[in-house]
Amino acid sequence: MSLPKSNLTPEEIAFFHREGYLVIDRLLEESELAFAREVYDRIFEARTGREEGNEFDLAGADEDEKPAALPQILSPARYAPEFETLKARDRALAITRQLLGEDAFFSGDHAILKPAGYGAETPWHQDEAYWDEASHYNAVSVWIPFQEATQENGCLHFIPGSHLWELKPHHPIGNDPRVHGLEVDQVDPSGAVVCPLKAGGATIHHSRTMHYAGPNRTQGVRRAYIMVFQTPARKLEQPHDFYWWKSRTTTREKRAQAYKEKQG
Ligand code: NI
Repeated sequence: MSLPKSNLTPEEIAFFHREGYLVIDRLLEESELAFAREVYDRIFEARTGREEGNEFDLAGADEDEKPAALPQILSPARYAPEFETLKARDRALAITRQLLGEDAFFSGDHAILKPAGYGAETPWHQDEAYWDEASHYNAVSVWIPFQEATQENGCLHFIPGSHLWELKPHHPIGNDPRVHGLEVDQVDPSGAVVCPLKAGGATIHHSRTMHYAGPNRTQGVRRAYIMVFQTPARKLEQPHDFYWWKSRTTTREKRAQAYKEKQG
């Protein structure tokens, strides 16, 4: 596979390793934006992946009859292969290889929608709290808004240098075991930086970087598409204890289980 050239400067690479995040002015081409939005809106309107447990409310109890406070779709490119054709995907991989190493690969994607006027906040968290407690990761999330992302509609905030922290204890949002989304137990966000972006720009953050997105207080939807890249994970001799998974009883897991059984 031949990748487009990534030309991060040595200063940008050093910034990422020091601060734990990086802002890219343009990742998705202007000409791809309308198409990307159309595909995105189509799968959210259809609640694509719900039966498999891949579409759910990240911040609420995820009841069928209630509108989701923070709709999320896991692996959207599985349902909408159009996402695989975006030039931004190869470009993001090339950038990631400059940051993490030549063995970095695409390991998944997801999409988080903040509906106009009420999309809930995404509380402070480290992405690794969602992942395998027995693995050590070297990974980044590439976060691309398909319209402008502002402090008012829910752009990302980062705590500089937090990628060097240990993984912090997390709990389900609102301490509600029905909620899939996680929130760190304690954090001081006073040194956080806010990263507004133009449509098709991107932020890149390390899997340990503490981050947050506010609620959507605007009358437009906030679409974010996220690609995750990593180098091969290493098994930990002493696994972490992600006890916050154990008390969890989400309808998403129930749907995923029922779907698996139906497939036999
Ligand atoms: Ni996150």
